[in-house]
Amino acid sequence: MKELIHEINIRRAKRALSDKKIPDKIIHRLMTAATYAPSCFNNQSWRFLVVTDDKALKKIHDALSSGNYWVKKAPAVVVVATKSEFGCRLSDRRDYALFDCGLATENLMLQGFKEGLYVHAIAGFDPFKIKAAFHIPDEYIVITLVAMGYPGDDASLSEKHRDLEHSPRNRKSESEVICYNTWELDASEKTRQDKTEKEHERRFHGDADRLRSAERIASLEVDRVATLSIEGLATPHILDVGTGTGVFAEAFAARGCVVTGIDTNSDLLQEAGRIVPRAEFRQGAAEAIPYGDGAFEVVFLGHVLHETDDPIGALSEARRVATARVVVLEWPYIQEEQGPPLEHRLSPEKVVKLTRLAGLEKVEVLKLTHMDFYRMVIA
Ligand SMILES: Cc1cc2nc3c(=O)[nH]c(=O)nc-3n(C[C@H](O)[C@H](O)[C@H](O)COP(=O)(O)O)c2cc1C
Repeated sequence: MKELIHEINIRRAKRALSDKKIPDKIIHRLMTAATYAPSCFNNQSWRFLVVTDDKALKKIHDALSSGNYWVKKAPAVVVVATKSEFGCRLSDRRDYALFDCGLATENLMLQGFKEGLYVHAIAGFDPFKIKAAFHIPDEYIVITLVAMGYPGDDASLSEKHRDLEHSPRNRKSESEVICYNTWELDASEKTRQDKTEKEHERRFHGDADRLRSAERIASLEVDRVATLSIEGLATPHILDVGTGTGVFAEAFAARGCVVTGIDTNSDLLQEAGRIVPRAEFRQGAAEAIPYGDGAFEVVFLGHVLHETDDPIGALSEARRVATARVVVLEWPYIQEEQGPPLEHRLSPEKVVKLTRLAGLEKVEVLKLTHMDFYRMVIA
């Protein structure tokens, strides 16, 4: 299997709930899923209070923080509680009761998404009010409330929450949170932050409008590039690296492709998510693509290669995650008013050399009206 499990992929913390009742048997299935979670020593430290009747729901509403107004639509809310002594308590502060509850809650959420529900855990509530309202003994920790409901209308959401509803998934890059064989996470954190900020500055100058100007879109030959990128492949799954505001992602999506875009700049991704809601966007760099081997048929690097400090690394990553082809769009190797200065551009000879060094053998070079276009078939 090359993909993540579908429910993990689609689960998001959605808030636009409908007040339509959830059948008891579905709620029961979700609760059973929660209890099937693993737990330390099989202690099953979780305790659940399932709230569905209007009077009891009102008690939940009274305990919500104001930002969680949207939970009031939910026809069911699960109170997840535990006591420290229910879980294993091991050396070095390892209290597993809350950990067990987290695993159970994730099961509940994933089963819920499988059932077509939005299932959203929250921390924004007053636990003392919940304990008082439901007579839960004080020694319990009410760790989360889980709001559940069918998808509803986003008109009842605040503007901020309406935008978040369609926002790209926002995650730290994997290299910030995962290391292999040696512990490298603390040392590299600051260097990475500095580098990422500089890179944003250099690449985008924070100017989303400029990236989507009509003049720029025309000079990028977006339609022709999109068509050539997927030529001969029926609606492939395509990764748009350095997607920016999603100019190419939009063109790929319009051709029926399944589109994923990555970029290091979260502001631009937010914009891309708004403009191309059908695509998935995620924070990530060309040199460390946050997806597994062979996750896409096509990987598109539009004006990325000349920007990166490690073009061979970027091409090798593209080759790793692509199964059919890697496509590169670059500025022509000439001095001109628009675009980067000549010393930052790549000649076709250089691009061909880089692609070979990255293990991409079959390179097709196409001169477009303005841009240079390269198509590399994965051998
Ligand atoms: C323990 C926990 C507490 C959370 N509390 C709230 C909350 O009070 N209100 C809210 O709107 N979202 C809450 N969330 C949702 C997160 O904001 C959300 O999962 C995160 O922004 C990532 O978004 P995603 O789940 O769509 O990827 C919470 C999530 C978790 C796991």
